[in-house]
Formats: sequence, C-alpha cells, structure tokens
Amino acid sequence: MKIKLIPLQAHGDDRGSLIALEEENNIPFEIKRVYYMFSTKDGVRRGLHAHKRLKQVAIAVRGSCRFVLDDGTERVELLLDNPAQGLLIDSCIWREMYDFSEDCVLMVLADCLYDESDYIRDYEKFLEEVKHV
Ligand code: TYD
Repeated sequence: MKIKLIPLQAHGDDRGSLIALEEENNIPFEIKRVYYMFSTKDGVRRGLHAHKRLKQVAIAVRGSCRFVLDDGTERVELLLDNPAQGLLIDSCIWREMYDFSEDCVLMVLADCLYDESDYIRDYEKFLEEVKHV
C-alpha cells in the first residue's frame, strides 16, 4: 500500500510558524468538513472503520498519535507527529488511531459532510467490500 504524506509548507519567522491549507492545492480535494480530536484518554483506540467514498487528510497539529492504515491486503503503521505533514486517507481504507499523546490535537479535513451511511464499521464487511472494488 502506498502511504501518501503531504508536506505542508510552514511559513516561519521570528514570531513563530503558520501553515495554510487550501482545497485542490496542498489538500487534494474540496474541503467540506473539518473536525478535530483532543483530550483523548490514555489507552483509547479510535477510528476502527473505513469509508465507502470519503477522502480525508489527517494532521497532528499538536502532539502525536499512531495510525494503522489497512487496504484489506496490507496493514501499515505510522506515527503522525508533525504539524507540517498531512496523511492522506483514501476511501476504502480501514484506519485505527492510538497512542495519543496527552496534548494531541488531531485535525481531519474531509471531502464530504458527515454521513453515517458512508461508514463501514465492521472489519469483515470491509474485507468483503474491498474484494469487490
Ligand atoms: P466517531 O465516528 O466515533 O469517531 P472515531 O472515528 O474517531 O472513533 O465519532 C464520534 C462522535 O462524533 C459520533 O457520535 C459521531 C460524531 N461525529 C459527528 O457528528 N460529525 C463528524 O464529522 C464526525 C467525524 C463524528
């Protein structure tokens, strides 16, 4: 599985740093929704689902967390700990997030509004779905 990490240019000067996110530019889709996870409790595992159509980019704007991405054939683990790096999560990819640092703020940009019917929350169903893609 090819993992796409998007480098995000930081504009830094003696005041600090700034990163701009632009749809169809450094974010490869139209941004319809942004959400973020924070105050994640110790030992928690989040995600545990795939999406039929939704594409997302995840950015650890503060702190760090680990990701598992799984395309039904291969499972890749990676650490997200850099606010200047976006992780592209395509449709039909199973994701799990864990080992959140206490200060972690994980921001996610998505190309669709929230739609529960787009979720695949059962891993066996996900494997069935990807076999038919
Ligand atoms: P959930 O899907 O359980 O998060 P995760 O995949 O990280 O485990 O979402 C938690 C709650 O937030 C759930 O009640 C649905 C709601 N939610 C929204 O209302 N809008 C959103 O955009 C998202 C991602 C979740």
